[in-house]
Amino acid sequence: MSQDQLKRKAAEAAIRYVDGGIIGVGTGSTVNHFIDLLADIKGRIEGTVSSSEASTKRLKSYGIAVFDLNATGELDLYVDGADESNSQLHLIKGGGGALTREKIIAGASRKFVCIADGSKLVDILGEFPLPVEVIPMARSHVARQLVKMGGTPVWRENFVTDNGNVILDVHNLRIMEPAKMEQAINNLAGVVTTGLFALRPADVLLLGTESGIKTIEP
Ligand code: 5RP
Repeated sequence: MSQDQLKRKAAEAAIRYVDGGIIGVGTGSTVNHFIDLLADIKGRIEGTVSSSEASTKRLKSYGIAVFDLNATGELDLYVDGADESNSQLHLIKGGGGALTREKIIAGASRKFVCIADGSKLVDILGEFPLPVEVIPMARSHVARQLVKMGGTPVWRENFVTDNGNVILDVHNLRIMEPAKMEQAINNLAGVVTTGLFALRPADVLLLGTESGIKTIEP
């Protein structure tokens, strides 16, 4: 099976968690499968809250309502992908640059179901460069601080987030204490969000593998 087919399988498994109401929707190629499947059952939900302009566009193309999070209150379910996960369901996210809105919706949701192909499960986070969203004027300052923390930050050039900020992708990290590192990076002046999701990890990880869906709950 191709990686894309495995992503599709994970998205299919997540559809089973949909039980009406307003669904939080993440961003990325795995979530795109989820949106396509959600379109088939759109009559069963009130609508969605979206984590990116790209997902909003796809949702609206199916006639699925997209609400402002300020108007919805807490959500029962958030479905999103990941770039890496460990077995505690600490994640690296933000490969698509939507990390800030993703983190907001994850924090506002009672259940965070993460969907991915099996290759995303790792022992130690950090092989995938950690995205950090930064206010543009703080880019060099934050980069110097990230070097002091042992990383090699690379400016994602020609990319602006939906919030008008820039991304530093931090290479060469072996993240042994994800929650501690998330807090330390969050504390740097100029950082909007880090793509580390450890303080609010996923609640369920659905992995598409050759032998079926692997469900991991901490
Ligand atoms: C976007 C994300 C995505 O969830 C992450 O990059 C995974 O993407 P894909 O499903 O395409 O592998 O965090 O900001």
